Amino acid sequence: MDDLKSSFVEQYTHIKHELLSDPAFDSTDSSRKWVERMLDYTVPGGKLNRGLSVVDSYKLLKEGKELTTEEITLSCSLGWCIEWLQAYFLVLDDIMDNSQTRRSQPCWYKLPEVGMIAVNDGIMLRNHIPRILKMRFRDKPYYVDLLDLFNEVEFQTTCGQMIDLITTLEGEKDLSKYSLPIHRRIVQYKTAYYSFYLPVACALLMFGENLDNHAEVKNILVEMGIYFQVQDDYLDCFGDPEVIGKIGTDIEDFKCSWLVVKALESCNEEQKKLLRENYGKADQANVAKVKELYKELDIEGAFLEYESSSYKKLTSAIEAQPSKAVQAVLKSFLGKIYKRQK
Ligand code: IPE
Ligand code: MN
Ligand code: MN
Repeated sequence: MDDLKSSFVEQYTHIKHELLSDPAFDSTDSSRKWVERMLDYTVPGGKLNRGLSVVDSYKLLKEGKELTTEEITLSCSLGWCIEWLQAYFLVLDDIMDNSQTRRSQPCWYKLPEVGMIAVNDGIMLRNHIPRILKMRFRDKPYYVDLLDLFNEVEFQTTCGQMIDLITTLEGEKDLSKYSLPIHRRIVQYKTAYYSFYLPVACALLMFGENLDNHAEVKNILVEMGIYFQVQDDYLDCFGDPEVIGKIGTDIEDFKCSWLVVKALESCNEEQKKLLRENYGKADQANVAKVKELYKELDIEGAFLEYESSSYKKLTSAIEAQPSKAVQAVLKSFLGKIYKRQK
């Protein structure tokens, strides 16, 4: 593990203990134990890409100058705030999507003693973010901007989750309503802002930048986030559950996935009928028929094409950026996700 990653992982324990002794709540042994177990189960077990990106981006903005101990602690803390935000959304997302596994273990709500307590645990995870920000950033000149950023991005993600969920009601009435612009809007809001814009925006704020001066950086990161979620849609169906650590549910859940949109674009009437009869059903026989049709239509080929054309477009947009440091931040991010298998 490199130095920054080990500092990052180490910070988790410090933050957790500070939260567990928050003076705002007079906690008992059993409540402390519950929260500690919930945090250990839901927060640190992912790829940590989003959180580490804050530290990496901040380092690149400093163009090779060493980070001070304080800068390491602060950038790691912001990274963990994003990991907390992600944990909060995922705990609730798995309930809403009726998922079984996440990060190679049962979803938190699936544990028999947890069940719907997971709803409050999700809210707890969300509430930890302003507690962490207060503990570590209240004296910083950019404190208000940070709070505002997290609030806005959380709002956008919640809107994205809403349209992801309510679009299935339209799809159930008429599957052919699903289209690329509808898909794009869903994934832009539910994924791109919190996963791609937020880490870089945190690093920029810490670096003393005004986010209003970085509109193009935001556009590029949002495009990258859309590409990332198309990969997520692809892996939901064709990824190896052993590798991605979760079992896909998009077909069963009638989701407006990139794959079904591409299938609708290229199928004939007969194939469309098959799709209508099998999409959105829990039975694995129906799911298998949908996957067979995707193979027949070579949706995997369409994905590979999309993947390389997105990569080219993103790379040229990045190279048009005036600042070399910003280019490095964006390229490093893109490099982490290009052709990912998980
Ligand atoms: C989740 O989207 C987006 C958020 C957590 C905000 P998905 O439902 O498509 O993601 P996975 O596949 O369950 O991880
Ligand atoms: Mn979802
Ligand atoms: Mn989901």
